[in-house]
Amino acid sequence: MDISKFRKDFPILNTDDAPTYLDSACMTLRPQQVIDSIMEYYTKYPVCGGRSVHRMSWQVTEGFEMARDSLRRFVGAEQTSEMVFTRNTTEGMNIVANGLGLGKGDKVLTSDKEHNSNVVPWHHLAKYKGIDYQVVPAKDNYYFDLEALKESIDSKTKLMSIVHTSNLDGYTNPVKDIIEICHDKGIKVLMDAAQAAPHKELNVVDLDVDFASISAHKFCGPSGMGALYGKYDELKNLVPTYVGGSTVVNTTYDSYELLPPPSCFEAGLQDYAGAIGAGTAAEYIMGVGRDNIQKHETKLNTILSNKLENLEGVSIVGPEDVSHRGGITSFTLDNWDTTEIAMHLDETYNIAIRSGMHCVHSWFNSRKIEGTARASVYLYNNEADVRNFTNAIEDMLSS
Ligand code: ALA
Repeated sequence: MDISKFRKDFPILNTDDAPTYLDSACMTLRPQQVIDSIMEYYTKYPVCGGRSVHRMSWQVTEGFEMARDSLRRFVGAEQTSEMVFTRNTTEGMNIVANGLGLGKGDKVLTSDKEHNSNVVPWHHLAKYKGIDYQVVPAKDNYYFDLEALKESIDSKTKLMSIVHTSNLDGYTNPVKDIIEICHDKGIKVLMDAAQAAPHKELNVVDLDVDFASISAHKFCGPSGMGALYGKYDELKNLVPTYVGGSTVVNTTYDSYELLPPPSCFEAGLQDYAGAIGAGTAAEYIMGVGRDNIQKHETKLNTILSNKLENLEGVSIVGPEDVSHRGGITSFTLDNWDTTEIAMHLDETYNIAIRSGMHCVHSWFNSRKIEGTARASVYLYNNEADVRNFTNAIEDMLSS
């Protein structure tokens, strides 16, 4: 399927000074359909859901719950009660980290290439609760090592928290094998699916993962909106971090009764427009088809990588095989600071990429690398975008 027709849906790409946008691993652009659904909430039924009984309020409640169902299908969950609205992936990770009741000596494992959202919560629990946070070393620098995982597990290991696809280099961890190994030992698995779910089919039931966290801004939805999937029984055993309005059946001066999941995790008035926008975005992506998106990204990234690899002075950071890097290429240029690369591409060529440590500081610090420049493609990019980018890099290297 040729998905180039979807480019017309993105207003920012249809202006006279449209940027060459290669920063979708950070934040995706939004199609008109998502913008319209948010506008519709604010213009046609801009009220509170789940409380008042007037018709506008029912419309909000219905829109909110329909969005939950869209997100349920987006991750392949069985029940909407397993989908908790959050602000972003990071919040979902924190809800699990804080809700499991981990204490002194309990061991949590991660890979060695994690976003801060899957590093800082564990350092925090180590500092304040005495958990033991350990990193499973990689094989050949970039590939997950299943044998090292087996060796890291002991009787104190309670949780494996793993990124599905890395935002640094696009590498996808063998999560199915990781989950099987962990479950055999009675260890729960939390997955940071922020960079995977927008780009490849995700089915939490097939994977049998216990928890998975996603962000809407990575799949054409609004920023500040995300969702946490949890198996219902796991959510029931998780202690909510935030409680208050909307989380209870009833309260007295000396007691409270929490609602069942997902409501007990959604304290206070919710971002209705955000949820509705996220639902529309999930429907949009499912309409394009993630298999089609994945093929399109691999095609573009192959062209991009092949060109970069043949330029003197370029080093690609990540697996050598481009098919293991999804739509992401992280690189450095001889004699260029990575921030300068990004600024120069923006100012001189109107090309947007990201630079620095991409919130994966621990990996860069362990290898004493100051950062990379990172180009990332999504469904709306085309070969002309890739050509603009590689021509600009060639130009920069020859100047
Ligand atoms: N995780 C986002 C990125 O990689 C912020 O840019």
